[in-house]
Amino acid sequence: MDMKNVTVFDHPLIQHKVSILRSVDTSSNQFRTLVEEITMLMCFEALRDLPLEEVEVETPICKTKTNMLAGVKLAVVPILRAGLGMVNGFLTLVPSARVGHIGMYRDPKTHEPHEYYCKLPNNIENRLVIVTDPMLATGGSAIDAISLIKERGGKNIKFMCLIAAPEGVEALTKAHPDVEIYCAHVDEKLNENCYIVPGLGDAGDRIFGTK
Ligand code: PRP
Ligand code: URA
Repeated sequence: MDMKNVTVFDHPLIQHKVSILRSVDTSSNQFRTLVEEITMLMCFEALRDLPLEEVEVETPICKTKTNMLAGVKLAVVPILRAGLGMVNGFLTLVPSARVGHIGMYRDPKTHEPHEYYCKLPNNIENRLVIVTDPMLATGGSAIDAISLIKERGGKNIKFMCLIAAPEGVEALTKAHPDVEIYCAHVDEKLNENCYIVPGLGDAGDRIFGTK
């Protein structure tokens, strides 16, 4: 598998929390909280290249030169529904980020993605755009969501998920070689229903308590 675009966040805290997510005994309430916490930890790592600028600050002791973020404009764009579960974790660290929404659902028979909503922040072409979705399975939803963002001018796009299937990594890397992929784990494979094995089941249903 071509892993050149993939960063796997294997920090022990992330791995521990993902293991609890996987358990069939984890409630929706716990699941939502864990998704937020894991996203916050991943966001912390994924943004380590944000540019800084030197500014002058006066401490109670003296004036000093110190670093602050150099005004990069950020947008987080969840793929509905499950990607919504990752937004608050992101906004906890970057409260000034704008939020876009892309609605996609997978046809249960063909597993093909269908778009039903797209609303992006203005100046998308000048923003670092982080697309969130807990699951990268066949890659169809992520590929189409990123194409929509590019059609509307987005240029600097990263994709953040919790669990990726090797098939999804391959497909997304081929379709959008410029997009870095961040995940907490690359799992074994897809099953005959295109669910990730071992995965964590249907992320949207587990976050929102639907079935
Ligand atoms: C799930 C998941 C991804 C997609 C992944 O969404 O949240 O968006 O499937 O599959 P893919 O990589 O094969 O496209 P789903 O369509 O079940 O919608 P939901 O989030 O509303 O539950
Ligand atoms: N969507 C999910 O929510 N889970 C999977 O395993 C695959 C697609």
